[in-house]
Amino acid sequence: MILFSHLEQPNSGKSSLHVFVLSYLILLVLLLFPIPHDSCSPSERDSLLQFRSNLTFSFNNSRLSSWVTIDDCCKWEGISCDGNGLVTEISLPIKGLGGSLSSSLAGLSHLTQLNLSYNQLTGNLPTEILLYPSLFVLDVSFNSLSGKLSMSPLGNFSLQVLNLSSNSFTGPFPSLGSLAGFLTAINASNNGFFGLFPSSICGLSPLLSTMDLSHNQFSLDIPPD
Ligand SMILES: *[C@@H]1O[C@H](CO)[C@@H](O)[C@H](O)[C@H]1NC(C)=O
Ligand SMILES: *[C@@H]1O[C@H](CO)[C@@H](O)[C@H](O)[C@H]1NC(C)=O
Ligand SMILES: *[C@@H]1O[C@H](CO)[C@@H](O)[C@H](O)[C@H]1NC(C)=O
Ligand SMILES: *[C@@H]1O[C@H](CO)[C@@H](O)[C@H](O)[C@H]1NC(C)=O
Ligand SMILES: *[C@@H]1O[C@H](CO)[C@@H](O)[C@H](O)[C@H]1NC(C)=O
Ligand SMILES: *[C@@H]1O[C@H](CO)[C@@H](O)[C@H](O)[C@H]1NC(C)=O
Repeated sequence: MILFSHLEQPNSGKSSLHVFVLSYLILLVLLLFPIPHDSCSPSERDSLLQFRSNLTFSFNNSRLSSWVTIDDCCKWEGISCDGNGLVTEISLPIKGLGGSLSSSLAGLSHLTQLNLSYNQLTGNLPTEILLYPSLFVLDVSFNSLSGKLSMSPLGNFSLQVLNLSSNSFTGPFPSLGSLAGFLTAINASNNGFFGLFPSSICGLSPLLSTMDLSHNQFSLDIPPD
């Protein structure tokens, strides 16, 4: 607006020159210092591409093709980033994804939510993902994941929502030790977990409000706590 009002004064050649120089400077500054945008960091992009390379696709219309055609991973299907181009969320439920879960996801330093429910993923759930320090929502329900959950109480654990339901996990349910402090919901139903459920989780999770252990082979003694 100011630039135009200067230009509209017919006799002020000096002002026009100022405007010209000013515009030139503004252009130069814009070229040298582009407005920062939340484009994806190369290492995060690599981690995601590694994750994709372990997947198979059963719907032809959803092969995560944007992951191949677009360079900026923050614009990929199912991906959200923070303002610094770091991936915070992966949401790919009901995408016909098969194959295995790559531990390369642990390379995403700011991932807080992972939702891969209603797919056909097989293999086990890498410990690196389960014990991911920044993750607070992990939903892998309705897949064909199997194996035991190994969970050594190392690192920081901030999980609030853990949905493992309707898979083929077996073995004892890991006692989360002192790492269970933030859990609000656990759904482990419809698996092959057996043994005693580690009731210490309940005492350690003051915020826990939902727990579904149904349709497993847990032993019948439900500890009072
Ligand atoms: C999906 O694509 C493959 C190869 O392009 C083709 O052989 C297959 O028939 C397609 N499946 C469907 C359901 O369209
Ligand atoms: C992922 O794929 C690579 C080869 O592309 C393989 O070496 C690795 O074992 C796979 N990871 C999992 C968890 O299947
Ligand atoms: C994951 O996605 C499914 C399908 O959209 C949704 O029903 C479910 O609530 C999501 N999980 C979480 C923890 O938000
Ligand atoms: C866990 O958190 C503490 C303090 O918040 C930090 O010093 C430590 O490096 C973290 N450990 C891991 C494995 O992230
Ligand atoms: C998994 O469980 C969580 C916690 O109860 C819930 O919020 C989420 O919607 C569930 N996911 C699906 C696909 O139902
Ligand atoms: C747990 O997940 C199963 C599906 O596997 C669902 O039927 C059930 O309602 C869920 N439980 C809770 C408490 O949300």
